[in-house]
Amino acid sequence: MSRRRQIYEGKAKILYEGPEPGTIIQYFKDDATAFNAQKKGTINGKGVINNRISEHVFTRLSTIGIPTHFIRRLNMREQLVRQVEIIPLEVVVRNVVAGSLAKRVGLPEGEPLPHTLIEYYLKSDELNDPMVAEEHIACFNWATHEEMQDIAAMAIRVNDFMCGMFSAIDIRLVDFKLEFGRIYDGDYSRVILADEISPDNCRLWDFTTGEKLDKDRFRRDMGGEEEAYQEVARRLGLLQDDGSPGEVLDMSAHRTRLRNSPTKPKK
Ligand code: TMP
Ligand code: ASP
Repeated sequence: MSRRRQIYEGKAKILYEGPEPGTIIQYFKDDATAFNAQKKGTINGKGVINNRISEHVFTRLSTIGIPTHFIRRLNMREQLVRQVEIIPLEVVVRNVVAGSLAKRVGLPEGEPLPHTLIEYYLKSDELNDPMVAEEHIACFNWATHEEMQDIAAMAIRVNDFMCGMFSAIDIRLVDFKLEFGRIYDGDYSRVILADEISPDNCRLWDFTTGEKLDKDRFRRDMGGEEEAYQEVARRLGLLQDDGSPGEVLDMSAHRTRLRNSPTKPKK
């Protein structure tokens, strides 16, 4: 269909060369994997929803001064982002015991942590993303000490902001994973937030019922993953009540309609 060059295909996204140097197009697939792709499936409409949720979260984060790779959403499944040199770390931020932490320390899922934990995992499918210490990161030069300080500070700010954003819609932000990348300006480089933030890489529990609204539904064969992702988007105000992306999702149509409307749009 298109002649643009594919740069990389990951488990949930495809990256294409962008229209200008230094830009990339992120295409969001419906493919879902878990446990380092040992489990594979699809979640219908996931790509469309994650594209929209991630756009929303990255846009909100930039309003509080977090530098991100996000430039703009292009269509239902694609967004334009800045090309970065990805730092090979998965930065996991935790507020509540769950998932691999529950197994590692032998505590029940759902126990609130006395303070936020940040963990680092090496991004390596071959090695199954092992957990690493800051000493390893410095020793093997995956990131400098200054970069790690910026990453930890940003991770905490992202967490504070997202905890508030989700609690306002009755969702408990249990944990999530971030990725960061470097952008260069001559000899100078700085770290910005990259990848995506969506129910694929967050644990989101309904505050009232405890219901899981994230990829654990797929990982744990619980079913209802499509509805769960839609529910998060709906609560964030990104979907119509019938679950369709509709005009609310198609922002370009929304703007055109407002421009052409004979009366002033209501605030
Ligand atoms: P974990 O409890 O399995 O270590 O996961 C912690 C958080 O990180 C959880 O919100 C899911 C997210 N995550 C990813 O986004 N990608 C991964 O490869 C893994 C293992 C976790
Ligand atoms: N481990 C990732 C997850 O569970 C996905 C994968 O590696 O296939 O989110």
